[in-house]
This record gives sequence, C-alpha cells and structure tokens, in this order.
Amino acid sequence: MITRKSIDEVMLATRIEEVVGDFVALKRRGSNMIGLCPFHNEKTPSFNVSPAKGIFKCFGCGQAGDSLKFVMELEKLSYPEAIRYLARKYSVNLEETEQNIEQKQEQMDRDSMHLVNEWATEFFQKQMRETEEGRTIALSYFHERGFKDEIIELFALGYHPPQAGIFYSSAVKAGYNPEFLVKTGLVIENEGQFYDRFKARVMFPIRSVSGKVIGFGGRILDKDKKTAKYLNSPESEIYHKSSVLYGLFEARKAISKEDCAILVEGYTDVISLHQSGIENVVASSGTSLTNDQIKLIRRYTNNITMIYDGDAAGMKATFRGLDMLLEQGMNVKIVTLPEGEDPDSFAKRNTSAFLKSFLNEQAADFIKYKTSVLSAEAAGDPLKTAGMIKEVVQSVSLIPDLVLRSVYIKETASRLDTDEQTLISEMNRVIRERMQRLPERPLQPEEVAAPEPSAERPEKAKLIENGAYAQEADLVRILVLYGNEPVAFKEQDENGNPEEHVYRVGDIIVHELIADELLPEADFNRQIFNAFALLPEDAEAFPDEQFFLHHSNRELAEYVIHLTSSPYELSKNWLDKHQIFVSTELHTTRKMVMSSLYSYKLRRVKKLLDQMNSKLEGDLSDDELFSALEQIKGLQAAKIEIARQLSYVIV
Ligand code: CTP
Ligand code: MN
Repeated sequence: MITRKSIDEVMLATRIEEVVGDFVALKRRGSNMIGLCPFHNEKTPSFNVSPAKGIFKCFGCGQAGDSLKFVMELEKLSYPEAIRYLARKYSVNLEETEQNIEQKQEQMDRDSMHLVNEWATEFFQKQMRETEEGRTIALSYFHERGFKDEIIELFALGYHPPQAGIFYSSAVKAGYNPEFLVKTGLVIENEGQFYDRFKARVMFPIRSVSGKVIGFGGRILDKDKKTAKYLNSPESEIYHKSSVLYGLFEARKAISKEDCAILVEGYTDVISLHQSGIENVVASSGTSLTNDQIKLIRRYTNNITMIYDGDAAGMKATFRGLDMLLEQGMNVKIVTLPEGEDPDSFAKRNTSAFLKSFLNEQAADFIKYKTSVLSAEAAGDPLKTAGMIKEVVQSVSLIPDLVLRSVYIKETASRLDTDEQTLISEMNRVIRERMQRLPERPLQPEEVAAPEPSAERPEKAKLIENGAYAQEADLVRILVLYGNEPVAFKEQDENGNPEEHVYRVGDIIVHELIADELLPEADFNRQIFNAFALLPEDAEAFPDEQFFLHHSNRELAEYVIHLTSSPYELSKNWLDKHQIFVSTELHTTRKMVMSSLYSYKLRRVKKLLDQMNSKLEGDLSDDELFSALEQIKGLQAAKIEIARQLSYVIV
C-alpha cells in the first residue's frame, strides 16, 4: 500500500496542465487551458483544463476529473498504478507500508509470471529456429502460410515441441519455479504430475498493451487432428481474455495515425494484414467483442472497421459486436469478404495495394450493412421486412449522439423506403422500453427521481440538473465552494444594540439544516453535507473543493467536479461566464447563501406539504386527521415565511 503521505506528496507535485500536456496540445484561454479532447473525437476543442483547480472537464463528452482520473482513464491504469505513474513523472519517491504482505506477494507473483512468459517466448522461438525439427515442422509451416521472417519475428511466433514434458523440464532446469509455470497455464499440474499444455503446437504469444507477454495461443500443425485447432492460456492474474486485443501492442501507433482500428477475428488475420502493410489491425481472438476491448480501442480512436467472415456465425457475431460499439459511441464500418475468405486468406491472395483500396471501397456504414444483410433475409416478405426495420432502428437507438442518430434515421428511411417519422417513433418506443428495463440493479437514492435519462448526458451532470434535487445540489455546491467564507450578519446584542456577527458559510448551512431537520436527501449530497456537519471539533477549517476533488471515493470526487462546474459552467462560453460569475458570486456571498438556503427549504417544505395533502386522501382516524391538518397548517406558515425571506433576499 502506498502511504497517504506519499499520495499527498504526489498530488502536491502534480500539475494537471503538465499531465494532460503530455497527451494533448493545450492552448491558454484566460485562466484555463483548452485543447482537443483525448476521450472523444472532435474538431473544435471543448476539453478544458483548470490549472488552479487541478481538474479537467470536457464539455463535449462529459469526461471530468483530476490528474489521477486523467491518467487512469487515458492509460487505463488502476488507482495505485496511476499514483506510480505520476510519482515517476514528478520523481517522488513512494513510501509503501510494509504490512500489506498479501499485495506485495501478488505483485511479486505477477512479476514472476511475466518473467516465465518472457522466457517461454524465447524458448519457443529457439525451438523453432535452432532445432532441425523446429525448422522443418514449425518454421516451414509459417513460411507455407506466407509469413515472412520479419513478421514471424515481430509477433515472436515460436514452436512448442511434442516431446513429453520438454517445456516443463527445460523451464525448471533454467531455474523457474513450477508454481509459476502452472499459474501462467503453460504447465498443467495433476496429482503431483506436470504436463505441458501446448505440446506440439506453433505458438502465438499474446501481449498486453505495454508489450508484456501475458498469455499464448497455440495452434495444431496437423489439420486432421481431432483436438481443438487453437488452445489458449487460461485466465490468470495477468491474462484476462475478455480485456485483451491480440495485436494491439503492435498496432497502436498505426491506429492512432490512421485514426481507425480494423477489427478481425483471428491471430493469423492480424499477422497477414500487418504483413500486407495494414498495421492498424487487432483481433478479438475468437470471442465475441467485449466492452473492455472496446474501451481499449477507444483510447486510440473512435473509428472502427470490422472485417468478419461472411458466414452466418460471423454475421451474428458482427451484429452483436456492432451494437456494443454503437452504444459506446464508436463510428462503425463493416467490410464483408467474398464467400469462404477470411482476412488472412484474402490478404494472401491479393496485393497490398488492392487490399487497401478494397477495404476503402467496401467499408459500408453499419446501416448499409445491416439493411443489406437483413433485406436479403427478408426477401420481400412484409412481416420479415417489418422485423428488419425494427432491428435496424434498435441499433440506431443505441447511438449516444443525438445528431448522429438522426442522420442514421434519415439514411435508414431512404434505404428502406420508409417514412422517417415512423422510424423516429419506433426508435423512441425502443428507447422508452429500454429505460423501463434499466432499474433492475439496486437504485441509488438520487436515481429514483431522475428524469428520463438521455444517454448523451453524463450521469453526474444529469443528477445535478435533475429538477427534484436542483436546489439541494445548489446548496451543497455552495457548501463545497464557499464553506469557509465568512459572512456578516447584523444582529442585536442582549441590550438590543446592533452588532455584527461573522459566521462561516458552512456553519450557517449546517446549523440551519440540522435545526429544521432538513438534511439533504440524495446520497452524494448527504455524504458531502456530513463531511461538514460531522467535522471534528478541533478541525481548523471545513473541507474545501480540493478535499473532495481528491477524495478517495472517486465517484464522489467526480460528482463534485460536475457539481462545482455546473450549471453556470455548462454553457458554451463557459470560460468568460465563469470568471464573471465567480467574482459576482463572491461579492454577494451572503445573498447567494441565503437565497440558496431558502430555495432549498422551500422545495422541501412544498414536498412535505404534498405528502401531507395526499395523506389526507387516505383513511384517517379523527386523531390522525387532526394532527395532519395541524402539520399542514404549520407547513403552510413555514412556506409563507420562507417565501417571504426568500423574496427579501432576492430583491
Ligand atoms: N480460436 C480459439 N480456439 C479455437 C478456434 C479459434 O481460440 N478452437 C480463436 C483464435 O484466436 C483464432 C480465432 O478464434 O485465431 C479465429 O478462429 P478461426 O477463424 O477458426 O481461425 P483462424 O484465425 O482463421 O486460424 P487459421 O487460419 O490458422 O485456421
Ligand atoms: Mn484462417
């Protein structure tokens, strides 16, 4: 465990503009900096960095956070990895607590597994090149498949000989601990016996994004064998099949440069296309595409071209993957290969120039692809055609971008010769249905009253703009931003002489809400309020924005970012407005605090009144009725008083 002290030290040394600046060209704009968002595709910059606050926020896609969040998201790092990244950047020596032996052990295990895999990769390469058997069996197999030596080298292909236990005994002789040979899956243990998993196969090492070998795919050489064509490493601490893309390490530069990734199914597809000069290619390795894999691609580009086999299974897999990609906001094109071809065979049969132009010309947007595949299936049958229209609309409905969605609806309408309005209402129906199905997971309190979520708004921002909690969020926002600000009130001393009292904003709000028993209702708001209300006696100051921005609860931190940068900062010319807003807001702190406080109270009282009034409609005993009426009377009086105070504050 990295100590709190070290984390603080790292965060203190960290400059958001420098951290972001390593990835994004930033231009100064007032007190902030602005650039093209690395999290989504854009042509005009809406990615803002505030050096003063140490945070970034994209007004295009809604990504927001501090330096840690930035590197975690962009480099796909865990929290401790991100701390280590920043520590390296700022040459901070990290102090780690000793007591967590377990974690240390895990790290050591992972390191050992990587070492084993690295050694194994070299072993398999040597077995292929430096033994007669390897050359005649494995190397010639690759050569026959058309793989040149450079590409064999680049993908570190190799050969696992068939002799029983040859890998196991060589590894042990080289000093590797059987424990890790088993953990990596290279060796299988059964009742004290060790067996080589990949015996008599050609080997495809699988690398992580950073180039470490994390697993292997092994292919049989003999076509007629009755065993699986490919064997893959089992899941392990370092190999999670569902979040790996084969070839990404080798492809990532090309993907960035081309601003497009090509997705294929198999190891050999990646290698052959790469050899033909198409280097921006990765494989999902036979599994259906996962969200983790999509996120990996999205680090480099928003554009993806899928090349899948034309067979029925391939098509189904394409449809599934397609919807997931659309849902993640990716732009998807699809290339269908001629019958019986896969990218590997097709690449071998054609010149690299032809291949490139073929991909360019054939790449169809997903509407074109889906409609043509499905129309062929429907073959004019009206019922099937209706089903097909629904299928297409259902895909379109997944696209988070509203504008893009309407473009695709138009395209669908013209392709299928249907009325656009019909498609729109069908799409809305699909979306509504999906929304109704959504809340099966346990509801967060703040989600209960959430309005119809529209997918393109960031979750946290929605919560803040949500009418039911707008006042509450505003009050909490003031608490976070101005909790320590002093506010003066004119009061009277015991003798009735005017006297000025100075309170901190935090004291006023905490006192008022506790006295009236009107604690914030939404989860995050309540948590933030508690940080103020439950402040230890000896604390010198209330927590401030920085405290929450770096809170160990990342969700909370993110919520606070959205909270403090909205609603005022959400408008297009946010920067200018923001500066104006801050200065006026500070000058009129008291007015701001009191109007926010009364607005909040007014909402709560109105809500209580509604509740009481609907209670009246139920079956009540005389006593209950009487007490309800009493309470209503009290609430109405409170409402009038609060409204009066509010209008007094506002004018
Ligand atoms: N695959 C697998 N296990 C299998 C079959 C396939 O893991 N038993 C994965 C492999 O990653 C393979 C991909 O699915 O590369 C695609 O399978 P397939 O199209 O059958 O193989 P190809 O890549 O075409 O391999 P080859 O050309 O060597 O037959
Ligand atoms: Mn193939």
